[in-house]
Amino acid sequence: MAQNWTPSSWRQKPIQQVPDYPDQEALSQTEERLAKFPPLVFAGEARRLKSALASVSEGKGFLLQGGDCAESFAEHGADTIRDFFRAFLQMAVVLTFGAQQPVVKVGRIAGQFAKPRSSNVEKQGDVTLPSYRGDIINGIEFNEESRIPNPERQIMAYRQSAATLNLLRAFAMGGYANLENVHQWMLGFVKDSPQAERYRKLADRISETMDFMKAIGISSENHPSLRETDFFTSHEALLLGYEQALTRVDSTSGDWYATSGHMIWIGDRTRQADHAHIEYCRGIKNPIGLKCGPSLTGDGLLELIDLLNPQNEAGRLTLICRFGHDKVAENLPRLIRAVEREGKKVVWSCDPMHGNTITLNNYKTRPFERILSEVESFFQIHRAEGTHPGGIHIEMTGNDVTECTGGARALSGDDLADRYHTHCDPRLNADQALELAFLLAERMKGGRDEKRLVVNG
Ligand code: PEP
Ligand code: CO
Repeated sequence: MAQNWTPSSWRQKPIQQVPDYPDQEALSQTEERLAKFPPLVFAGEARRLKSALASVSEGKGFLLQGGDCAESFAEHGADTIRDFFRAFLQMAVVLTFGAQQPVVKVGRIAGQFAKPRSSNVEKQGDVTLPSYRGDIINGIEFNEESRIPNPERQIMAYRQSAATLNLLRAFAMGGYANLENVHQWMLGFVKDSPQAERYRKLADRISETMDFMKAIGISSENHPSLRETDFFTSHEALLLGYEQALTRVDSTSGDWYATSGHMIWIGDRTRQADHAHIEYCRGIKNPIGLKCGPSLTGDGLLELIDLLNPQNEAGRLTLICRFGHDKVAENLPRLIRAVEREGKKVVWSCDPMHGNTITLNNYKTRPFERILSEVESFFQIHRAEGTHPGGIHIEMTGNDVTECTGGARALSGDDLADRYHTHCDPRLNADQALELAFLLAERMKGGRDEKRLVVNG
């Protein structure tokens, strides 16, 4: 077990991004209630994810991580969850075909509620109020009452996470994810999209393969892996009081686990080595993500790796790089070289969203071509360094929103007002997400062909 660590040892450290709860007594009572609630996920599941990520770190798989920037109480509903899951499965199938490797599926869902903010206050006209920090903390409505942090929201977030997870488990294990349904996942607005034809062709090939396998006796009835899928949850472990309340000892191993989600990550604003968020995360055994932005140095990264993964355990740590399309070439190589020099085992993942946010017509948006450009650079740099580009981390939804510009439907700045629903950052819509998956799959296939050429001389 990590030395001098307890689920509450983070409380002795400096901390960033803490909400200002006016009623500390009510906050403590809420945390005590949460501490008695059942775990949302189990240690064994987190271990299974860790072992899947260990394969990714060895170059034998690809991580697909995505979902809302911020889940909201208002958008909680079966259709939203189903549409997300469907878009996510479509992406996963496309990527599996491209990579010819297992795709590890991790949603930013069932717990992704707390948001770090660059400013403590938001100004509209003459009025200045505390910033919105995610539905688990305060309300998005711009009035004084709603912006006061309210501990009761943690209970609501917990219950929403439980309900969301329940439906996701049913989708993943109860037949919806059956590969025989590969055509049905396209229903919805994507069926009229520019990606539809491409997807249909791929789905036809999969169906044909399934028919062949059935003919030789392999079907979803006798092979669960054809009708079920492993789907994991993740979120930023920002609100540490909530995380602490859901930190439990695993009776099998005696280790501490965060049971709020399978994987949790540390944000780019809260990764100071001697601060609270690193302290909390070093003591739990879940797979951990670490956001790596432009201010991180090679030595800084190695210091964090030693704190978070002192045993250099494969699958424990995923480095989620988020530099921006114009900064990735200048920043990523030094991190890769530091990690390689010291022989550290990590999964390299690319978050092409958070370094590519711009303002257009008063909307926060992200141009699709910049997102794609960062992913492409990420792949090229890894190929040049001889390391494995192991995953992507994206903000997306299954709905037909207009939040990011570009893509095959060429959304423009003028379209943003149509269906701009996000509670925080702009997300790829299902169409753009699928387009990104196809483009990525092509790159992966290209990479394989290149490798073959090298091997064959
Ligand atoms: C996020 O993933 O929503 C986020 C806030 O990212 P970062 O910490 O990388 O800015
Ligand atoms: Co975000």
